[in-house]
Amino acid sequence: MQIFNLYFGRSVAGRAEVSDKEWREFRDQVITSALPNGYTVLDGQGAWMNPRLRTTISEDTKILVVALPDAPESRATINRIRSLWQRRFHQYVVGMTVQTGCGSFSTAEASSMTASGTTNDVAVHYGTDGLLDRILEALTRAGKHIDKLSINDLGLVDEFHSRRRLATEELARMLAPVATDHVIDIGSGIGGPARYLAATYGCRVSGVDLTPEFVGTATGLTGLVNLTNRVDFRQGSALALPFPDARSIWHGRRTWR
Ligand SMILES: C[S@@+](CC[C@H](N)C(=O)[O-])C[C@H]1O[C@@H](n2cnc3c(N)ncnc32)[C@H](O)[C@@H]1O
Repeated sequence: MQIFNLYFGRSVAGRAEVSDKEWREFRDQVITSALPNGYTVLDGQGAWMNPRLRTTISEDTKILVVALPDAPESRATINRIRSLWQRRFHQYVVGMTVQTGCGSFSTAEASSMTASGTTNDVAVHYGTDGLLDRILEALTRAGKHIDKLSINDLGLVDEFHSRRRLATEELARMLAPVATDHVIDIGSGIGGPARYLAATYGCRVSGVDLTPEFVGTATGLTGLVNLTNRVDFRQGSALALPFPDARSIWHGRRTWR
């Protein structure tokens, strides 16, 4: 999923700032109808330096936080909200930060989690039905041909960590596997980093993940890019790895040899 933060500055040139009433109208007319599954609004204060007087200028700001599927529709929705605010209040831009992350907002999932977390909690937290089908639909909508997919096409959706492919490339350069290496990717998700390593360095990669839906999706996507001879996935726990003699380990943001 992607977590969007939008920063709605309330100062408007040549008139009073956006009032509470105006904010509520915008929220009710625009935001709620665009994001019917929910969102969070925080009060903030933007600040920057007046370059001439070198004093602090500040501005009351509403911060909208919303987690949405990592899909073109989500970005279209967010951009629609931003441009409506810009037009209604004659603003130059609505600031935005975006992070890739994981999370859950459903009561059933949240209530099944414990502070310590169990194997099943992780699978419940991440698991989602029909994931492979939804990914293939999104790729088709993005103009990709499912029978001619490359790992770069999948890069739109299959890297489930901050900075996505950039972080994978940096970490891969540090690990620098050779073709005869067998790398274990712990918490392999839907397999983007594992496929990248195998396709780029020619090594063999085995992914291990607690979440069965991810293992199935990772296996399906790997078949579509013809990497099954070098990349495989199995359901399992980082705490009981089925590779007793592993020497190279890839885990999200770190590698060990
Ligand atoms: C944020 S996702 C990252 C997925 C993948 N490494 C990537 O970067 O695209 C974290 C993954 O770790 C898996 N996971 C969490 N705890 C685990 C554990 N104890 N053993 C194996 N996998 C685990 C989750 O199912 C999820 O797929």
